[in-house]
Amino acid sequence: MADNSNNITQIQPLAGTELMTRSAEVRAQYAKANPKSYSLFEKAKTSLPGANTRSVLHYSPFPVTIIRAKAAQVEDIDGHHYQDFLGEYTAGLYGHAHPVIVDAITKALANGLTFGGPNAVESKFAHLMCSRFAAVERLRFCNSGTESNVLALSAARAFTGRTDILVVDGSYHGSVLAFAGNSPLNLPFPTHRMTFNDSESAKQQILSLDNKLAAVLVEPMIGAGGCIPANPEFLTGLRHLTEQTGALLIFDEVMTSRLGASGLHSLYGITPDLVTFGKYLGGGLSFGAFGGRADILDRFDPARADAWPHAGTFNNNTLSLSAGFAGLNDIFGPDEADAFLVRGDTFRTSLADSIGGLGLPIHITGKGSMMAFHFCHNAPHAPYDVQRIPSELYELVHLSMMAKGQFHARRGMINLSLAMSDEMLETFKNTITEVMREFGELIERAALP
Ligand SMILES: Cc1ncc(COP(=O)(O)O)c(C=O)c1O
Repeated sequence: MADNSNNITQIQPLAGTELMTRSAEVRAQYAKANPKSYSLFEKAKTSLPGANTRSVLHYSPFPVTIIRAKAAQVEDIDGHHYQDFLGEYTAGLYGHAHPVIVDAITKALANGLTFGGPNAVESKFAHLMCSRFAAVERLRFCNSGTESNVLALSAARAFTGRTDILVVDGSYHGSVLAFAGNSPLNLPFPTHRMTFNDSESAKQQILSLDNKLAAVLVEPMIGAGGCIPANPEFLTGLRHLTEQTGALLIFDEVMTSRLGASGLHSLYGITPDLVTFGKYLGGGLSFGAFGGRADILDRFDPARADAWPHAGTFNNNTLSLSAGFAGLNDIFGPDEADAFLVRGDTFRTSLADSIGGLGLPIHITGKGSMMAFHFCHNAPHAPYDVQRIPSELYELVHLSMMAKGQFHARRGMINLSLAMSDEMLETFKNTITEVMREFGELIERAALP
């Protein structure tokens, strides 16, 4: 199915399966309900390719334009209100316009924005993150999760004097580090791929690459690829094998550092050499950071004769750092983070029970406040398992949920925020169970084996 039938008059039932027909019906209802969004979408196309400046924000037939958000609710330009279970792909942990974050930003604004010199908040925030995340002895700030991974990989290549990197097939680490398919925009690092949760494939790759391999980059739970947690043996194996061959182990915790008081590496009890961060840690503003072993990070000390350079005009921008510090220090302390992990696990279990009661081939995976649903008969173990599920199924559920005031990611990802009440969770659970029931027959027929 084309993903770009943007003209309302072109939204026709596609010949063929019932799935296509239902999909077209739901699209037509959606288009009718969102005329202002559609009009803005058409206008935006003249200057933004496909009316888009962040690929993941496009979904068929066209995305709604959001005009404001408060706590766990967003409002679109046609006046619809949604319960926000997208949670800005995990960056929205605090909910929208949290008073503590707004206050921190307002105070930072009043003192001017970029000073051209070190400021007081950068070291405060760095101390906090080093004390919070077990594997982080030293840290550097940057501006996005993509940047944090590019810098961690480049640092690993410089530190080891090696060239190649190993990643998980189907994983996502940023706009130029996208390993689902073959993005022509990816950085030209010599890159090899292993199968997630397949210790044998990892072992063969690492041993055969031997002293060419600079780094293994992995998410301890695959995020964009479907919220699939790693088997502990898989990660332990990576730790042992990288130690054995001298490659660095980098955990991408851009999404998962919200899981528990000290991130997912601590929950697994594994100390990677480097960890990368982003998303919620900027309190809702642009943010990235990478940290880890002091002997690696200290190579960035500008006073050293052999210092590595790391520029970035906005690396220490006071708005992101003030918002990020306030969030981690005043809202999401270690106890709150541990409690939120439990709350997420409890909700995921009850969601899985509710949907499971329908007897359909649907699996819910995830950890804590991050989860995803998959239309497949067997539980998925790797992103590859879920990336072949027909997109029309996700479209049906996504647009139908929006029609009922519930907003989650098109690909089936659900992220909780601290602003959500128990009542909201209950409503979401009941609504999605009803939607799945409505499309039960189609799901049964189109789900992956
Ligand atoms: C695991 C992971 N790493 C890196 C990134 C890139 O972060 P950013 O969008 O801030 O560049 C993302 C973004 O979704 C991500 O999910």
